Amino acid sequence: MGFIQALGIASLALATGVTAAASSTGFTVSVDGIDYFLPPKAAGIISGEDVKALFEDGPFVPITVVAGNGTFDISSYSLDDVWQTGFLEALYVQSGSLPDNSSYTVLSGSASSVLKPGPYFINAAGQLYEAWRLFSDVQGAFTESVTSNGDGSYSVLPAGTVGQKLAIAVPSRLYYTKTADKPLAGVRVGIKDIYDIKGLRTSNGNRAWYWLYPPAENTAPPVQNLIDAGAVIVGKQITSQFANGETATADWVDYHEAFNPRGDGYQDTSSSSSGGGAGTASYGWLDVSLGSDTGGSVRGPSQVQGLFGNRPSHGLVSLEHTMPLSPVLDTPGLLARDPVVWTEAAKAMYGPNITISSTYPTKIQTLSWPTSANNPANALLVDFLGNVTEYLKANVTAYNVTAAFAADNPTLAPLTRIMNLTYALLITKQQTELVRKPFYADYAAKYDGRRPFVNPVPLARWGWGDNQTSTVEEGIANKTIFMDWANSTFLAPSASACSDSLVLYVGSTARANPRNVYLDEPGVPFGFSSSRISVMAEVPDFVVPLGEAAYNSTITGHVEFLPVTANLMAAKGCDGMLFSLIEELHAAGIVKTALPGRSGVTGGEILLRRGEMMY
Ligand SMILES: *[C@@H]1O[C@H](CO)[C@@H](O)[C@H](O)[C@H]1NC(C)=O
Ligand SMILES: *[C@@H]1O[C@H](CO)[C@@H](O)[C@H](O)[C@H]1NC(C)=O
Ligand SMILES: *[C@@H]1O[C@H](CO)[C@@H](O)[C@H](O)[C@H]1NC(C)=O
Ligand SMILES: *[C@@H]1O[C@H](CO)[C@@H](O)[C@H](O)[C@H]1NC(C)=O
Ligand SMILES: *[C@@H]1O[C@H](CO)[C@@H](O)[C@H](O)[C@H]1NC(C)=O
Ligand SMILES: *[C@@H]1O[C@H](CO)[C@@H](O)[C@H](O)[C@H]1NC(C)=O
Ligand SMILES: *[C@@H]1O[C@H](CO)[C@@H](O)[C@H](O)[C@H]1NC(C)=O
Ligand SMILES: *[C@@H]1O[C@H](CO)[C@@H](O)[C@H](O)[C@H]1NC(C)=O
Ligand SMILES: *[C@@H]1O[C@H](CO)[C@@H](O)[C@H](O)[C@H]1NC(C)=O
Ligand SMILES: *[C@@H]1O[C@H](CO)[C@@H](O)[C@H](O)[C@H]1NC(C)=O
Ligand SMILES: *[C@@H]1O[C@H](CO)[C@@H](O)[C@H](O)[C@H]1NC(C)=O
Repeated sequence: MGFIQALGIASLALATGVTAAASSTGFTVSVDGIDYFLPPKAAGIISGEDVKALFEDGPFVPITVVAGNGTFDISSYSLDDVWQTGFLEALYVQSGSLPDNSSYTVLSGSASSVLKPGPYFINAAGQLYEAWRLFSDVQGAFTESVTSNGDGSYSVLPAGTVGQKLAIAVPSRLYYTKTADKPLAGVRVGIKDIYDIKGLRTSNGNRAWYWLYPPAENTAPPVQNLIDAGAVIVGKQITSQFANGETATADWVDYHEAFNPRGDGYQDTSSSSSGGGAGTASYGWLDVSLGSDTGGSVRGPSQVQGLFGNRPSHGLVSLEHTMPLSPVLDTPGLLARDPVVWTEAAKAMYGPNITISSTYPTKIQTLSWPTSANNPANALLVDFLGNVTEYLKANVTAYNVTAAFAADNPTLAPLTRIMNLTYALLITKQQTELVRKPFYADYAAKYDGRRPFVNPVPLARWGWGDNQTSTVEEGIANKTIFMDWANSTFLAPSASACSDSLVLYVGSTARANPRNVYLDEPGVPFGFSSSRISVMAEVPDFVVPLGEAAYNSTITGHVEFLPVTANLMAAKGCDGMLFSLIEELHAAGIVKTALPGRSGVTGGEILLRRGEMMY
């Protein structure tokens, strides 16, 4: 028996004169202690006298629509994270009928339209509403919980639930069937809050920005491509401010960093796609997150939370209606636990600009890869390299980027000098021009010449940029020197395998980085490392989770586990080859689907949190 409590939500829209018109923005109900959101628009009507017989009290009764033809397989419904046995108050069988001996109450009326199978709420008038389960964002991964208005625009979800955080509403997966046209039907996606979505405000991680500008009138192309493929956008996600790198203690002044679910639950999420990483690693009910990677903002959160995450080749999809950090470096990337869903989402988002191809390089070049399994993290890395080498029947060579550059370019400065300031210069010069300038002007115009609040990290970086006499053109010239050399050497294209070689470097090795430690004053990201190669050479750079290794937690005083990951690079434009290779490695059991929760390998309840919410 489902015990149901209902709460109607009505918004008051002021009309002219003294009359006020109320329109429903949906309802929230609770069934056996689980909260649901009912969208305002009914999905259909079931007419018939026996509907009324269901009502003793309360405005809604939970029922199940069965697609059926005389069979009702409860086990397939039980796998869904929205449906529960409380929806067995009555069944509506779309076609045919159940056997006479079935113990269910079967409604005899007829529906106004073909109904998708799954859980619904019916009222005494026979109106049927979809059931969207409300999950609490206990890890603080979202800035705003959203719901589609059905006309291409979105609204803030008008519902809450217990959990001290936002409620996120997700529809039953039973409603959706993936098709060639809608390959992401029912796939639940979170969007970093630097991408505009029509009808919603964007924060860019800054409170003043959120309130200064009106709701967006357009949806950013990467988001629109996901929506067009059937994705269900469930919310906007936490970003460090203006997508600059921030760490949890002290830096995140305007908004709080999301919580990394792995290990002791108090490790830094990395940034800037903090919410996308934390949400995807925490919640089984969330499939994919859209982040952005300028200098590592998708890769960092994927590495420290054990997820599949990609920095794509530069320029695959327009970043209109998206906040820029540096347009010459900015890229939209996806984070996921399951490489199959990840690839489907990428195909939808990048469209014809990626080509899935399944001829692979037979040359692997490694950058600072361990050669002995002298600790558990290195053992995973050594095994992975061995497995991939064997799978591809490839040859492996260690490659030293700075040494090879020096050997090939004896007349040029060392690579570490050429590249030392390039990233910092491009992001600060471009962001001050494209973001700070209009922001400060618009804010001053509205608030009598005042300056808006900005976090310490972007302020320190912008201030450094103001002092530099080097131009964006000089930065691009240095970037071009490196890209030109890289794409004719270790990241060269190949006619047969797209990329001449596969380049591997170490992602993460279970090193603790607790979020409660005060670090240095905010600084400027100088220097060059393996993670800057893809940034400067515009090549794809994908993170794959390999497993986990133990560390001693300063938080719990106990041994805990953190992710170990690898990065794979290839020539520019070979994103489709990498997606295909990773899917094959997954099918061969060399890489595995990551699990949500405390561990990416074994799952488990996040520390300090009830397991029931994770599903
Ligand atoms: C009813 O549909 C299910 C699922 O589509 C199918 O497996 C089953 O064979 C069908 N049963 C009958 C009696 O047609
Ligand atoms: C119900 O009847 C069907 C045949 O119509 C039979 O196969 C099935 O075992 C019966 N189920 C129960 C619970 O008696
Ligand atoms: C593919 O790339 C081109 C050139 O950058 C761009 O104009 C186009 O919009 C992209 N296609 C998609 C589906 O984003
Ligand atoms: C691997 O290296 C060996 C020895 O250097 C060479 O003979 C062989 O052709 C190489 N194989 C591939 C696939 O490059
Ligand atoms: C790469 O070569 C440089 C010299 O150019 C050296 O300083 C560095 O230690 C080498 N790196 C590795 C990983 O061997
Ligand atoms: C990089 O630039 C910073 C800031 O100017 C400087 O302190 C550092 O020594 C430079 N490093 C190299 C390798 O040039
Ligand atoms: C460009 O490279 C030169 C060395 O060739 C270096 O002195 C300069 O700082 C670099 N500038 C930028 C913006 O990267
Ligand atoms: C910019 O240069 C001025 C003058 O040299 C100096 O006082 C200030 O600290 C510099 N600002 C930053 C952010 O480097
Ligand atoms: C290599 O890099 C140079 C400089 O950015 C660029 O002009 C050229 O198109 C690139 N070639 C390939 C094959 O990517
Ligand atoms: C944890 O600390 C103990 C005691 O210092 C040490 O023996 C053990 O190796 C450490 N474990 C890890 C995973 O670092
Ligand atoms: C990967 O390599 C390790 C070590 O050689 C081996 O034990 C394991 O079976 C391999 N895994 C797969 C899926 O091939």
